[in-house]
Amino acid sequence: MAEPILAVRDAEQAAAQILSADIRDFIAGGSESEVTMAANRAALDAVFITPRVLTGITGSDTSATLVGCQSAVPAALAPMSYQRMVHPDGEVGMARAAKEAGIPLTLSMMSSFPLEEVAAVGATLWQQLYLLRDRGKVTEMVRRAEEAGCAALVMTVDVPRMARRLRDMRNAFVLPAGVTAANLKGPESALLHKHAAGTSGVAAHTHKMFDPSVSWADVSWLREQTELPLVLKGILDPADARRAVEHGANAIVVSNHGGRQLDGAVASAAALPAVREVVKNRCEVLLDSGIRGGIDVLKALALGADGVLLGRPALWGLASGGAPGAARVLSLLAEELTEAMHLAGCQDVAAARKLRVA
Ligand code: FNR
Repeated sequence: MAEPILAVRDAEQAAAQILSADIRDFIAGGSESEVTMAANRAALDAVFITPRVLTGITGSDTSATLVGCQSAVPAALAPMSYQRMVHPDGEVGMARAAKEAGIPLTLSMMSSFPLEEVAAVGATLWQQLYLLRDRGKVTEMVRRAEEAGCAALVMTVDVPRMARRLRDMRNAFVLPAGVTAANLKGPESALLHKHAAGTSGVAAHTHKMFDPSVSWADVSWLREQTELPLVLKGILDPADARRAVEHGANAIVVSNHGGRQLDGAVASAAALPAVREVVKNRCEVLLDSGIRGGIDVLKALALGADGVLLGRPALWGLASGGAPGAARVLSLLAEELTEAMHLAGCQDVAAARKLRVA
């Protein structure tokens, strides 16, 4: 019998028993030698919290405001593409889980359900965007996000091209039949299902669609397209963080895309303190890449983040049990954070941000 899921970290093993090897690889994998992916975990494991004692608190309030949205924990779901590949509930199921948990969901531009169907669930929704060669498709997504009531736009800035993901190339990975880029219909979508030895269908589609010359001018352009709060995801250098503020970003996500882009890039937790130092309180700073439990959220806060994005563990939860499986992972994250905050003597998120790290 399968072991019960008692911790956020358990979800991967549960999903591994269900998913086919190539889909598991698509999610678990990083780029090239996966050095950065491993470094994300090593960097978080190397952070130690100095707990406060005798604070007299009876419990901890984990609630936070992220990009102007109330959240039950200082976390939102990271954008992750093509979620129907792990479970028929897909992004609609993930939105149900987010709503139940009271946290925002970032919907990938490469969602396998149309944005409007996901928005109908009623979770707090942020729409992620890539800069496509066809700017018309980007502005169309912006309009649709506004009309569907999205609370923020998240522009991902670390994919001028998709890095080589060797696992997918070896598997000649293509999306399962019936799973596609539901928001971006067009002839290019056929590439997602086109099998060719030594190549990934998802990479072929990305190369066709994404603008490789994406620049700060595009951030200015996007900023002019909308009044919605703008988040830039994939910043690691403090100088880029400063420029993000200058370009009107309301928040940035310190992220290396979960080790799926530049292999050899700095671990996100290692990059975070210098980024916070430079932006001060001029914009919110979120962290992703390697968050695997409530203690990691506490570490991120202590390192200077306002909150985190939860990536792969949520997808493992969705794989293992659809919307309730994802909801289980999110409720464990809240439970783990509540315990960690109490043990560290933190009544609230503000106190957690004042903890010392070693
Ligand atoms: C992603 N990520 C991602 N990011 C993004 O901006 N748009 C996207 O469509 C996707 N798609 C995607 C699919 C899958 C399967 C994964 C695993 C990741 C990156 C994601 O938002 C986040 O940055 C990382 O997942 C964080 O790393 P961890 O915590 O999952 O290791």
